[in-house]
Amino acid sequence: MIDSLRLFAGNANPALAERIAGKIGIPLGKIEVSRFADGEIHVQIRENIRGCDIFILQPTFPPVENLMELLIMIDAARRASADRVTAVIPYFGYARQDRKDRPRAPISAKLVANLITVAGTDRVLTMDLHSPQIQGFFDIPFDHLYAQPVLGRYFEQKRIPNLAVACPDVGGIKMARAFAKRLNASLAVVNKRRTSADVSEAMEIIGDVAGMNVLLIDDLISTAGTLKNAALALRAKGAEGIFASCTHACFSGDALKNLEAAELEQVVITDTIPQEEQRLGGQFKMLSVGELFGEAILRIHEERSLSSLFV
Ligand code: R5P
Repeated sequence: MIDSLRLFAGNANPALAERIAGKIGIPLGKIEVSRFADGEIHVQIRENIRGCDIFILQPTFPPVENLMELLIMIDAARRASADRVTAVIPYFGYARQDRKDRPRAPISAKLVANLITVAGTDRVLTMDLHSPQIQGFFDIPFDHLYAQPVLGRYFEQKRIPNLAVACPDVGGIKMARAFAKRLNASLAVVNKRRTSADVSEAMEIIGDVAGMNVLLIDDLISTAGTLKNAALALRAKGAEGIFASCTHACFSGDALKNLEAAELEQVVITDTIPQEEQRLGGQFKMLSVGELFGEAILRIHEERSLSSLFV
């Protein structure tokens, strides 16, 4: 049933695109995503896709070129008479301003949702949104995957004794609770206060971590200030070994230095955002979500349920 299924990818994460195509068992679709001499994006789909079920893969981490490539690829597929166009966005960027929580602030996540819809998208497939409510910014079918089955399985196999799962801010409680349940661990919460867009401080720890190993869970690492502060606060409360697990490794600024200063046992990330693994060093472990996305795409194409992929 995969005859009409086509997977195209922009330039943001070619390695993940290959892994997903490998799982589905098809080659990546022929597409040229290049640049005009002045830097504008030039796209051309190089095969007939009339009546096809098109999946376009592109995580939208910075630079904004990644988002723009996605929009233009969607437009190309729509104008080439695709039957259905699904935007596959392993990391959904511009998600952090998701409500008007202070005067004269934008809701960037809604703006991006509008852009993706208006470009001609029929449905969206993504993973670990910064806040799940962003689904409601779309009025088209939306499938939301979790990296937890991949990350959780890894930590299950590690069998870390005497484990507490902690989230570095109250926004992450739901995600941390799912890990705690899976790993049969207790739950702790770091109460974080953000003093500006990229600076935060850990205020206090809710829950008991003294003498315990702790697994810190977050959806996103940017500067890693959040993780570093959380690790220091946990250690001050008597935590022993501290591990971190995060879906989207959007490293920026002093992220690597901050992670080193946090003295974590291990930082486990996924490949929603590409990384040069040698640059990261031995503290890191990268797990692929390629199989999960490949399976989800197959199921969407075959109109089968996705819910068994959530555990
Ligand atoms: C915040 O709500 C997110 O879940 C992350 O904790 C945050 O965006 C990480 O940012 P940074 O690494 O710059 O502290």
